[in-house]
Amino acid sequence: MPANTDKTKKVKVFLRTFGCQMNMRDSELICGLLQKAGFLICDDADKADVIILNTCAVRQHAEDRVWSQIGAYKSGKIIGLVGCMAQHYKDGAFSRAENLSFVVGPQDIEKIPKIISQLSAFSCQPSAKSLFEKKIWETDGLIRPEEVYHTGFYEDNKHVSVVISEGCSNFCSYCIVPYVRGPLRHRRKKDIIREIQSALDKGADSITLLGQNVNAYQDGELNFLKLLKEIDSLKGLREFDFLTSHPKDTKNELFKLINDLVKLKKALHLPVQSGSDRILKLMHRGYNRKFYLDLVSKYRKVVKGGLLSTDIIVGFPTESVEDFKETLALVKDTGFNAAFIFKYSPRSLTESFKMIDTVSKQEKEQRHKMILELQQGISGKLRKKDKR
Ligand code: 5AD
Ligand code: SF4
Repeated sequence: MPANTDKTKKVKVFLRTFGCQMNMRDSELICGLLQKAGFLICDDADKADVIILNTCAVRQHAEDRVWSQIGAYKSGKIIGLVGCMAQHYKDGAFSRAENLSFVVGPQDIEKIPKIISQLSAFSCQPSAKSLFEKKIWETDGLIRPEEVYHTGFYEDNKHVSVVISEGCSNFCSYCIVPYVRGPLRHRRKKDIIREIQSALDKGADSITLLGQNVNAYQDGELNFLKLLKEIDSLKGLREFDFLTSHPKDTKNELFKLINDLVKLKKALHLPVQSGSDRILKLMHRGYNRKFYLDLVSKYRKVVKGGLLSTDIIVGFPTESVEDFKETLALVKDTGFNAAFIFKYSPRSLTESFKMIDTVSKQEKEQRHKMILELQQGISGKLRKKDKR
């Protein structure tokens, strides 16, 4: 079906999100931009004229799911690959999936409405499709215009996510994020507060602040701690939290604030990735096991009863049984409320991609299962204790 043969009919767009909370928020930004431009957001891919996949490139598995999903869509629709995978493959994505019409990286999302208009107009031209296929890609953007954050579109108007920083400059050796999302950039405090205030005015009362490494936030003299204090003082806000903290930038003062600020949730997501010093060094994490454990014990001391969660990668290149046992012991001793466990996935562009992926698929699966089962037991026990 051509996208808009009837000029009065709005073009319907279906958007599917893969990946992290940052991507969920990006999808809201895209929906906001599309609505503002007069498109209709619809929740049924079959009825849509345009399908957008907002994607993740962190692990191969996430990418595989997207390629097979694209292949499953019916022909005759305009299909767009957006987000981290789009930035990863750029125009090379067109040869991976022939039915793709556009490819847009995370730094170029404001261009999506115009691209869809161009493609819809093109698909209306009689016989245009039979002559040649129109493809558009935008993956050269460096920063987003601030206004993309201010369309006021949130999936849940009570609990909203607000981005405070974009990108990452840490270059952990396994991670593709700095390559596809660019270097760390901070939004201005005044813009963040303007967005939050406007959401509060419209009835929100709970906020999650988002960034790959929120602790590194800086706007002139104002650091993350000062930002938290300002947000805590906003009228109408009931509670707030933040994601994600990098251990190397997490200080005791943060724990004091988590304890003292009335509205800030007593919770911390602090990815450890591995319990082995040797592996942490190869991962370029910038801390060792002792540093991490000391940080956790300070947190526990200052924030009584505070929740703690983490991310762990099993099967990093050269991870031995001994290295793995150190991670297992760290999980056992720390008592995380939740842990997200991932099997190492080699990513092109990254430094560890050059290393041989030594741990077999089967071994990774086994290590993954062992930590998962251990953690499920710990999480269950902690939940029961909390209920008492
Ligand atoms: N393989 C497996 N897991 C990864 N992560 C990041 N890169 C990779 C990779 N190449 C995990 C880390 C990070 C989480 C968001 O994804 O644990 O904290
Ligand atoms: Fe990736 Fe490391 Fe940056 Fe997190 S801190 S996004 S793991 S490079």
